[in-house]
Amino acid sequence: MTDLFSPYQLGSLELANRLVMAPLTRNRAGAGEAPTELAAEYYGQRAAAGLIISEGTQPSAVGQGYPHTPGLHTDDQVAGWTLVADAVHARGGRIVAQLMHAGRISHQAITGLRPVGPSAITPAGEVYTEQGMKAFESPRALETAELPGVVAEYVDAARRAVRAGLDGVELHAANGYLLQQFLADGSNTRTDGYGGSPQNRARFVVEVATAVAEAIGADKVGIRISPAGTFNDITETETEQTYAALLDGLNPLGLLYLHILEGSDTDFHEQLRKQWDGTVIFNTGFAGPSDLATAQESVDTGATDLFCIGRGFLANPDLVERLRIGAELNEPDMPTFYSGGAKGYTDYPVMSA
Ligand SMILES: Cc1cc2nc3c(=O)[nH]c(=O)nc-3n(C[C@H](O)[C@H](O)[C@H](O)COP(=O)(O)O)c2cc1C
Repeated sequence: MTDLFSPYQLGSLELANRLVMAPLTRNRAGAGEAPTELAAEYYGQRAAAGLIISEGTQPSAVGQGYPHTPGLHTDDQVAGWTLVADAVHARGGRIVAQLMHAGRISHQAITGLRPVGPSAITPAGEVYTEQGMKAFESPRALETAELPGVVAEYVDAARRAVRAGLDGVELHAANGYLLQQFLADGSNTRTDGYGGSPQNRARFVVEVATAVAEAIGADKVGIRISPAGTFNDITETETEQTYAALLDGLNPLGLLYLHILEGSDTDFHEQLRKQWDGTVIFNTGFAGPSDLATAQESVDTGATDLFCIGRGFLANPDLVERLRIGAELNEPDMPTFYSGGAKGYTDYPVMSA
């Protein structure tokens, strides 16, 4: 039995334990979509996680998907992330920034810019804006000649993450945002080298990962995927072939980790884990309990190396210690997930001494 509370060497990072805090959008960025002192306090409170993955963070203005999410494309944002990195490191923690380009899961009412995507296919559903819920708009299909510029935005954001003192980045290729939009044929009907076959649909993600790894070092770059996930109106066929092609392209890079969100087909996920040469992080992706027993089982069966928990960390700054001693947990308060302010953010109590 592996001790979840024992250290784990992740690339050059020594993690204090095998429990990872999941990326959690909290919509509390300050002026210029920069993280604030309050964000530094929130992440610092949770520094006992083996690794923190930050909330989804846009690498460009058009990549923003929700109001008041932080970015990593301006100097003010770098200054904000520096506060966060310093707060986490001062308490012995590790933190990477999740780079999330929302692609077509956005709206002009949020960014002032028309959303972009692999193809001009409007997702079903509505998006939250400060003027209320709005139907998704038709995205503008990115031209082939524009793609190197989008790759460059990821590279620039990753460099800024390192400049801010963060320990690396996680590329968000899950949950129906831009990178998964390229992987899925329901959102990608391109006829250039980036669509039409599993290899072609995987190409853009591999190019982003390759460029970011070259810029900041592969051991500072993780990636999150949700194979067969349907969130944000994703539809895929040839899923197994697409993800096999993706991992074929990513494996030689020697990335920091592969972060897999569980789906209904566990055999397929098992196969992907086996295909991956390096560290695997597993999150249930709302598909099952995200508790200590599940974490222990996933690590003991060899399914994963590290186990990632979202709402447990959101509601319990001292989650690791609570799980270690079997203490009761605070319940997450859904109405304050995205509400802004300190309430439901930095005011969850720790255990009394
Ligand atoms: C409030 C909230 C915000 C989230 N934001 C993100 C995000 O920014 N990026 C992401 O990849 N997943 C995001 N997720 C999904 C979580 O990372 C995680 O997959 C999910 O919460 C399931 O894990 P859990 O059962 O341990 O909470 C979010 C989930 C919640 C509840």
